[in-house]
Amino acid sequence: AEPVRKAMPSALTFDHHAKCSTTKARASTLHLPHGSVPLPIFMPVATQGSLKGLTYDQLRETGCMLCLNNTYHLGLKPGQEVLDAVGGAHKFQGWDRNLLTDSGGFQMVSLLKLATVTEEGVRFLSPHDGSPMYDSLPTSASVLHVGNLSQWLTTLRLLTPEHSISLQNSIGSDIIMQLDDVIATTSPDHARIKEAMDRSVRWLDRCIDAHKYPERQNLFCIIQGGLDLELRKQCCEEMVARDTPGIAIGGLSGGEAKEEFCKVVDTCTGLLPENKPRYVMGVGYPEDIVVAVALGADMFDCVWPTRTARFGNAIVDAGTLNLRHQKYATDFSPIDENCDCVCCRPTNQGGLGVTKAYIHHITAKETVGAHLLTQHNVHYMLKLMGSIRQAIMEDRYPAFLRKFFSNIYAGDK
Ligand code: GUN
Ligand code: ZN
Repeated sequence: AEPVRKAMPSALTFDHHAKCSTTKARASTLHLPHGSVPLPIFMPVATQGSLKGLTYDQLRETGCMLCLNNTYHLGLKPGQEVLDAVGGAHKFQGWDRNLLTDSGGFQMVSLLKLATVTEEGVRFLSPHDGSPMYDSLPTSASVLHVGNLSQWLTTLRLLTPEHSISLQNSIGSDIIMQLDDVIATTSPDHARIKEAMDRSVRWLDRCIDAHKYPERQNLFCIIQGGLDLELRKQCCEEMVARDTPGIAIGGLSGGEAKEEFCKVVDTCTGLLPENKPRYVMGVGYPEDIVVAVALGADMFDCVWPTRTARFGNAIVDAGTLNLRHQKYATDFSPIDENCDCVCCRPTNQGGLGVTKAYIHHITAKETVGAHLLTQHNVHYMLKLMGSIRQAIMEDRYPAFLRKFFSNIYAGDK
């Protein structure tokens, strides 16, 4: 057999602090080039190089040490040339803490539904008729004077593992993700799921070979294999052998049953090394995060907390409050009595500050309501992760879980 390639060196250290005595929950610290991150952690998503509704100062204020950008979006705009000229996405955005970039293919396939996957990479299809996009820049494009159009045609018509890594090298993110072949977990096509798993392993090797800066950017592999635990097992073995600095579990958050989700996470974490961070991609809701932590996962990302804020929703211990509801028009209490974010803190301290009634009023008229709720929700998620970590350190995570779910059930009444 071909010798297995190894991705070395790494640009992180992983300090293990505590393990729950009854579940697989772990508390640790991930030291990255732009600061240390307490794990377990939730990473907010700044897709386009900004967290919608927050300045980077406001994001810093929530305590966030690591957020996401997306290779596909940044590769399109501002594009690789601009990123190279400025010296990467940290400088471009004015963000001095850590960045993680997803590799881009998942967004092309799942969000745009305008892509096909071949062994070469992820190929764009025409938004007009689903036919493949131009293979080379037609000379006519240069006379169109549309910078963005020519970028579509020349830069991102085909995203290969090499190209994704080259873009992520230009972005300079602290954690970069391999290009993977993702199939919806709910797909019935077993042969295609296996092909995607095997292809993701082959693409990892291509990513490792293409990665120019392993001493300052950490490449994570992504375990695929759908809901088939045998495929997941094979994938874990192959990926773990490549010895990347961190490991992601992909292909979840696609509407699979909670039980299936748990089995996949549990099976994978059981096969992963103890001394590396484990990232469950695209998850999620607070209830999914607390469960996945019990199953041994350390890192999470999801657009939901920030997206739902823009729909007027505040996350609190009892669940989600829709402050657009008429009943909040005269509710002068803080968004969350237990919160010390910049919106809730002054009100909770008996001073003048943001109330539910104010958010109700302003959300209907101005974007500032969305900004305030985004700040609260990101703060809430990070505080939740801090409480999870504390509970693991004090070896009372099962009691924490019981309390967490009893709060939600109380809120449902
Ligand atoms: N985001 C959510 N799930 C996935 C996945 O399986 N792969 C990648 N690359 N990104 C994701
Ligand atoms: Zn708050």
